[in-house]
Amino acid sequence: MHIHIVTIFPEAFPPVLSAGILGRAQQAGLATVDVHDLRDHTHDRHRTVDDSPFGGGPGMVMRPEPLFEAVESLDLPRGSTIIALTPQGKPFIQADAERLAQEAVVTLICGRYEGIDERVRMRLATEELSIGDYVLTGGEVPAMVVTDAIVRLLPGALGHGEEALVDDSHTSGLLQQPQYTRPSEFRGLEVPAILLSGNHAAVARWRRKEALRRTLERRPQLLYQAELSVTDLEELAKMGWRPPTSG
Ligand code: ADE
Repeated sequence: MHIHIVTIFPEAFPPVLSAGILGRAQQAGLATVDVHDLRDHTHDRHRTVDDSPFGGGPGMVMRPEPLFEAVESLDLPRGSTIIALTPQGKPFIQADAERLAQEAVVTLICGRYEGIDERVRMRLATEELSIGDYVLTGGEVPAMVVTDAIVRLLPGALGHGEEALVDDSHTSGLLQQPQYTRPSEFRGLEVPAILLSGNHAAVARWRRKEALRRTLERRPQLLYQAELSVTDLEELAKMGWRPPTSG
């Protein structure tokens, strides 16, 4: 898959994107990430990408021309996904990462300053994503977040850890259960005995129950979307949770 990133800080990306699993995935040819300097698409001496807002007010707004020109220079396949990263976007969730990991080409536009000209949202971006309800100084870190979440899902990216994907928080719609490794006792804290029992069915049941418990405690709203079995609902009922009644 091919990911294009349009930014005024191209130098911010290589240290993050060339490390670890992301770097390996690119070396293995699973993903190509091309970072493009927005200022290469300006035509004035100062390489200006922003201007003051019409109607007045504080701050600066990213001008549409460099952004349109930068994206048009990429020769993207017709209808390919172009995402503007902004705090006003739809919240980015695991299902978006799974959807985007299926695409051949994804373009990420990093917003900066107080905003981007509305015509970029209207005619250039096919969607707008936010990585959370807080305001960052720009879309660069969000673009790294989205790239990371997509690339790790590409078949082969995790090497032998591929099965780990099934167990991820959010993939199943639940938060992941507590995890332990050696030593079995650390500073007086013992690993739950069932995990040392070698009883795979009992371990699987314990993990599912603890995932349900953790989700209920921390993110109860996720339970409304999660696929829950009759056993899950029984376990949740013991923890005091009732499914919403329909109608
Ligand atoms: N740009 C600034 N803040 C952002 C956020 N939370 N998500 C996406 N892009 C942003």
